[in-house]
Amino acid sequence: MTGSKPRKIILAEKDMPTAWYNVMGDMPNPPAPILHPGTHQPATPADMAAIFPMEILKQEMSTDRYIDIPEEVQDIFKAWRPTPLYRATQLEKALDTPAKIYYKYEGVSPSGSHKSNTAVAQAYYNKKEGTKYITTETGAGQWGSALSLAGSLFDIDIKVFMVKVSYGQKPYRRLMMETWGAKVIPSPSMETAYGRSLLAKDPDNQGSLGIAISEAVELAMQRDDTKYALGSVLNHVALHQTIIGLETIKQLEIFGDQADIVIGCHGGGSNFAGLCFPYVGQNLRGERGQNKARCIAVEPYSCPTLTKGTYAFDFGDTAGMTPIMKMYTLGHDFMPPGIHAGGLRYHGASPLVSQLLHEGHIEARSVHQIPSFEAAVLFARTEGILPAPESSHAIRAAIDEALKCKEEGVSKTIVFNLTGHGHFDMSSYERYLSGQLEDFEFPDDALSETLASLPEIKG
Ligand SMILES: Cc1ncc(COP(=O)(O)O)c(C=O)c1O
Repeated sequence: MTGSKPRKIILAEKDMPTAWYNVMGDMPNPPAPILHPGTHQPATPADMAAIFPMEILKQEMSTDRYIDIPEEVQDIFKAWRPTPLYRATQLEKALDTPAKIYYKYEGVSPSGSHKSNTAVAQAYYNKKEGTKYITTETGAGQWGSALSLAGSLFDIDIKVFMVKVSYGQKPYRRLMMETWGAKVIPSPSMETAYGRSLLAKDPDNQGSLGIAISEAVELAMQRDDTKYALGSVLNHVALHQTIIGLETIKQLEIFGDQADIVIGCHGGGSNFAGLCFPYVGQNLRGERGQNKARCIAVEPYSCPTLTKGTYAFDFGDTAGMTPIMKMYTLGHDFMPPGIHAGGLRYHGASPLVSQLLHEGHIEARSVHQIPSFEAAVLFARTEGILPAPESSHAIRAAIDEALKCKEEGVSKTIVFNLTGHGHFDMSSYERYLSGQLEDFEFPDDALSETLASLPEIKG
C-alpha cells in the first residue's frame, strides 16, 4: 500500500495554463519553410488563407515562446480541464518495478480524447473570422468527434470525411458526430472530384487518412465561407496540445517529482508534441542541466514513419493538394495495413517532431499491435481505464521502460500520455481477446515504391 500518498493530482481551474508553449521559440534551427503545392516555393499566409483562418496561420509561423489562450477557449476547457495526472501504483505493483509511472488522462474530455484541445481552439478562431462551414477528415473518429462538438459549441457546420473502413466498423463514432450535428461522409465519396476519380478506378476503395484529407481540402478551397481543419501534424495543432505538458509539469511538482522519461504515441505527432514539447523546451533552455528528460515517440511497427521513413519534403495528403512539408514520411501514396489503432495510420509526421528527431532532441521507436494490446489489457486490469488502441502504444513503451528499470535496479520517473479511452474500440478488443489479432510485418518493398513519388524539390 502507498499509505496516504496521493494517487492523482487535479489542479484547480484557476491553475490551468493561460498560454500555450511554442517550441519554435526555443529551437536552435529555424524550421524549413512550408512549400506551395503548385509552385514549390515557400507558401505565404495569403496562399494558405483559402483553407485556414488568419490567426491560425499566424500561429503556424510564430516564434513567440508563449501564445495566450483566448478566455472563451479557456472557459470551454474548464468543462474537463485541467485533466488528472495519475500515479499508476497498481500497474507498478503488477510489474514489481522500482520505477514510478504516471499518466496524464486526456480521455475525460467529452469526445473522449486529447483532440478536443485543438478542436475548440480552431473552431474559436474560425468563428471569429466568419467561417460558416468546416471540412475535415477522420480515421477512427476521435478527431471528427472532437471537431463536431466544437462546431456545435460555436455554431459552425462540420462536414467530416470518415475513412470508409472506419465508417463501416465504427457506427457509434459516426452517430456521436451526428448527434453533435455534423454531416459524416464515407471517404472516398462522390462529393469531390478526387473521390469520384478514385471510385471510378476502384468502387471498393476503403479509403485512407491521406485520401480523406484530399477530399476535405478540395471542398474547402471551393468556397469563401468554408475552411478546413486538421487534427494533427501542423505547428498550430502541436501548439494547442501543449496545455497537456504544461499541466503535467505543474502536477508532477505537486507530487514532488520530476519526469526522467516522457512518452507519447505518434500518429501525426500532436499528443506527443503536447506532452513532450514543454519538456523539450526545458532541455533546450538548459534548465535541467545534464538531467535532460528523454522524450520518446511510439508508433506502430506497420506504419513506421519516424523509424523507417525518410526526412524529406512531401505532401500531407494523397492527391497532392496540401502544402508540402519537410517531415519524416513513408511517401504520400503509402497505404498502411489495417491495424486497429486507426489514428496512427498516417504516412507523414509533424514537421516540428520530425526536425527535433532529426536533430537528436527526441527519440522514436515502433511497437507491434499485439504487444500494445497486451499492455492495454494489463493496464485495464490494474488501473481500471480501458485505453484507446492508439494510447496503448505509449503504455507499451512505458511498461518496457519500467521493466528495464527493474532489470537494472534503478528507479526512474516515467510519464505517458493516456490520450483517450477505448470505449468505441471494443470490436478491436474482441479480436485481441479471441486471439484473432495479427501483427503485420512492414512491407519494405512498398516503401521504395512510395518514396519514389516524393515531390522533387530543387535547391
Ligand atoms: C486516442 C488517440 N490517441 C492518439 C492519436 C494520434 O494522433 P496524434 O499523433 O496527432 O496525437 C489519435 C488519433 O486519432 C487518437 O485518436
